[in-house]
Amino acid sequence: LAVEYGCEAPFEIEYHDSVASTNARARDLATEGASDVVVLADEQTGGRGRLDRAWSSPSGGVWLSAVCRPALPPARATLLTVAASAAACGAVREAGVDARIKWPNDLLVPDADYERGGRKLAGILTEMEGEAGRVSWVVVGIGLNANVAVDDLPADATSLLAERDGEPVSRRRLVQRLLERFDDLRDDPAAAREAWRAHAATLGRRVRVTLPSETIVGEAVDVTDVGALVVETGDERRVVTAGDCEHLR
Ligand code: BTN
Repeated sequence: LAVEYGCEAPFEIEYHDSVASTNARARDLATEGASDVVVLADEQTGGRGRLDRAWSSPSGGVWLSAVCRPALPPARATLLTVAASAAACGAVREAGVDARIKWPNDLLVPDADYERGGRKLAGILTEMEGEAGRVSWVVVGIGLNANVAVDDLPADATSLLAERDGEPVSRRRLVQRLLERFDDLRDDPAAAREAWRAHAATLGRRVRVTLPSETIVGEAVDVTDVGALVVETGDERRVVTAGDCEHLR
């Protein structure tokens, strides 16, 4: 795998042919004091998604986790998720696939037959630890269905292989561009927010956001620099920091 990649990235890369979860491995490295390291695997046997879901990670995908130590208060650490989704979307678009970001950080490929606005190409799982009001580490995990057959993925998912009509993508170039963009955006909240907005599928749409204690329905009008969604419900403007979002039209 290291030979296939061999890329000049702004991070040190630890390669695995197979690992349980790159996020779990990255968390271990973070706990040992590592920084600016990326764990990259061809296959995960226990990939994790948001909300404690399993994440299908067959061989051929891009499953990676970056260990970062930003000088940020914990409430702003989601900046890195905004930067990562914008970076992944930009890298995928360079590979010729029209991906858009569904809030908070899913990459979708539009599909006319699919009522929620697209098929899922990638997702991001960010984990962090902080103490005394500072972040000690953040692990940003990106799962991108690259050279993977759709038959090996959940029903609402797609892959770059499928979207490129069976032509495999260069994972080396994809990862290199993704990490370069992420490195540029992670220290620049305004640029990360602009890049996110430029690729957004959610802005301007009617959405239903499910929070632990309530459901908000309204028009998604903006995203803040820490990635919170601004929803106009008719009588008020709500700023939502986490939740499950459905596109209604
Ligand atoms: C989601 O639910 O949309 C987030 C999916 C995140 C998957 C990636 S794959 C690399 C990293 N390792 C994991 O176990 N999960 C993340």
